[in-house]
Amino acid sequence: MAESESRGQFDVLDGVKVPKLGQERWEQLRTFPLHGDDVFIVSYPKSGTTWAQQIVRLLRNRGREDGQRLDLAMPWIECVGSPGSVQPTSLVDLECLPSPRSFKCHLPYALVPGGLPHTTCAKYIYIARNPKDVCVSFWMQNKRKIDPKERLTWERFFDKFVHGFLPYGSWFDHVLEWWEHKNEKNILFLKYEDLKKNPHRNIQAIAELIGADGVAGELLEEVMTKSSFASMAENPTTNFRWEDGRTFSHEGAFMRKGVVGDWKNYFSPVHSNELDRLYDERMKGSGLEFDFGE
Ligand code: A3P
Repeated sequence: MAESESRGQFDVLDGVKVPKLGQERWEQLRTFPLHGDDVFIVSYPKSGTTWAQQIVRLLRNRGREDGQRLDLAMPWIECVGSPGSVQPTSLVDLECLPSPRSFKCHLPYALVPGGLPHTTCAKYIYIARNPKDVCVSFWMQNKRKIDPKERLTWERFFDKFVHGFLPYGSWFDHVLEWWEHKNEKNILFLKYEDLKKNPHRNIQAIAELIGADGVAGELLEEVMTKSSFASMAENPTTNFRWEDGRTFSHEGAFMRKGVVGDWKNYFSPVHSNELDRLYDERMKGSGLEFDFGE
């Protein structure tokens, strides 16, 4: 079991803030039984998780919409049973989901349910996005929290982001740990910016990983169209409008802009330099690079 403690509304595992589930549930998740056709869509928050989920769903349904809300069709595995969750409430419910199952997950590599990803029979799609756009997207979501006490100023949010004090910890640790395992045969490491620039190639890479055959021509176009930002923003099963007024205020939207480089509208030169400095220090020698937009 990872080092654990409880802090406010979170548990802290291996120094990372995660949803408050209690030690027993974390232990159950660690040994959660997996199937060979399980797919995990994993990311640091606000990196394009929902987009990748929609692609997986469409590939599995041969381009058809199943009409099910995405958060119910693909449960957020570490939030199942957490207070206020509308997903299946027990791990038994999760175990009984019809195959092939897909799960959303934001946990660091070492904490993913079912064991270390490279040792399991499941497949993992990790989607990463440049940290400046992640930070802005995450802050915009935080700004919409209904409880004003939970809304942080940009300054405070930025500070927590760069120091790894937000839920799911440091963006750098998260991304670099997954990057180390990018060559495992059951892991696909995707970048948001690449998916944006070349959706055909990246959708086909996802199809290959999850064993969806013959994804070309009309089917590929259909998956691309139905997973486009415009289509997902209109689609009531993907646009998260169901959270408005419950978790988040009605102002703004989950499907916000969906672009590369929006950080330039929010970062001051001082913030930008601070993150650049940290980025250079942490990413040096990793071989991992991001597109920060024009
Ligand atoms: P922005 O807030 O920058 O618009 P996640 O699903 O991990 O929470 O990520 C949410 C971010 O992905 C939001 O970014 C959202 O707009 C963006 N997004 C969702 N679907 C997208 C799509 N089809 N194309 C591009 N961006 C998308």
